Formats: sequence, C-alpha cells, structure tokens
Amino acid sequence: MTAANAAASSAERAATRVRLRPTMQSDLEFVLSLENDPENLPYITPWERTQHEAAIRFPDFRHFILEGGPGLDAEGFLILIGCKSRHQSLELKRMVVRSKGQGFGRAALRVAKKVAFDDLGAHRLWLDVKTHNVRARALYDSEGFVVEGVLRESVRTDNGFESLTVMSMLLPEFAARRERALEVRT
Ligand SMILES: CC(C)(COP(=O)(O)OP(=O)(O)OC[C@H]1O[C@@H](n2cnc3c(N)ncnc32)[C@H](O)[C@@H]1OP(=O)(O)O)[C@@H](O)C(=O)NCCC(=O)NCCS
Repeated sequence: MTAANAAASSAERAATRVRLRPTMQSDLEFVLSLENDPENLPYITPWERTQHEAAIRFPDFRHFILEGGPGLDAEGFLILIGCKSRHQSLELKRMVVRSKGQGFGRAALRVAKKVAFDDLGAHRLWLDVKTHNVRARALYDSEGFVVEGVLRESVRTDNGFESLTVMSMLLPEFAARRERALEVRT
C-alpha cells in the first residue's frame, strides 16, 4: 500500500464512485500491465493477450474497464463469464484494481453485481479467491458472498500448490441486500 493509498479514510473509500465500460483492443496494454504487475501476480493467473482479445469479442464474456477518480481514469478491469449460460450462473473471473485501498474494488464489485443480476439475468454470481488473498477475501465477505468450499491445492504456482475458496451470491441474497440499501439501486 502506498502512502497515497493509506491516506484514503474509510469515509473517502465509502464515497468512491466508479463506472464500468466495455474494454477495447486499445485498453489491452493497460490490462496486461496490471495483470503482470508483481503486486498482483501472487493473486491471479495472467492471461495471454489472445485470451483477452477473445473475451472482448465472445458474447458469453463481458470484459470491462473500471474508471474512477475525479478524471474517470482507467483504474482497473474486471471480467464476467457465463453471461449466456442457461444456468444463469455467472463467474466473476477476474478483478484487478490499480490504486488499492481507495474503495475502487468495493465500488466496482457493487456495479459488477448490479450488471450481473439486473442486466445479465444472473441467478448465481460466483468467484474463487486464493486462500492467502486476505484483502480480496475480506472484500467478498463484507460484500455478502457466501463460502461454498475450498478447492484444495488446485493451482500450481512457483511457490507450490495453492488452494482456492469458492464463494457465491444468489439472486434472493442480492435482493435482500438491496432492500437493506447495501447494493446499488436499480
Ligand atoms: C482485491 C482488490 C480488487 C480490492 O480492491 P481495492 O480497491 O484494493 O479494495 P477497497 O479499497 O475497495 O477495499 C475493500 C475492502 O478490502 C479489504 N482490504 C483492503 N485492503 C486490505 C488489506 N491491506 N488487508 C486486508 N483487507 C483489506 C477491506 O475489507 C476493505 O474494506 P474497507 O475499506 O471497508 O475496510 C485489489 O486490492 C486488487 O486488485 N488486488 C490484486 C488482485 C486481486 O487480488 N484480485 C482479486 C482476485 S480474486
């Protein structure tokens, strides 16, 4: 965490606003540089450029740039998959934020939930998170995701095998949170 990040108070973080826009080909340098940033690499498995290019094009995927801050600069990206699934089970495949600890992650996750449940007809939104990813796990816990289980030692990295926690939210749970004003309004 940088000094600038640390300076964001919890009130400032809570007030953070973001918007999502579809990722374009010209954004991919930014996306790849974030994925390959040593700060992020322990928590994700980076894709090849061609995988991102496919994700931009395939109707089953939604690839978004997260814009935030006063100038609505590109602050990160996120990917939803399973958008055409007959099971209405969408996966938040990836979310990476550049300026951490400023509230962009929470704000983006709320918009992603709104897109998934309101616009894409999700019944279930799920994700997996490495068990050692304390920051992301705290975010998902506090945003109402429920633990489904652990995929033990399912990812092989340079540090050995790592485990993934699977978490999800169902539409009624999302609706209940919205009733309590914990979600973005319709
Ligand atoms: C995980 C990530 C998306 C969260 O975004 P962010 O903008 O940094 O998070 P926010 O500022 O919105 O903080 C959200 C919550 O995360 C938790 N959090 C933030 N920093 C933390 C830290 N250093 N340690 C533990 N928890 C932390 C807090 O619960 C925080 O809520 P609070 O502000 O109410 O206290 C971002 O840190 C990131 O890109 N990390 C690297 C890639 C990654 O892990 N992606 C997710 C893979 S599943």
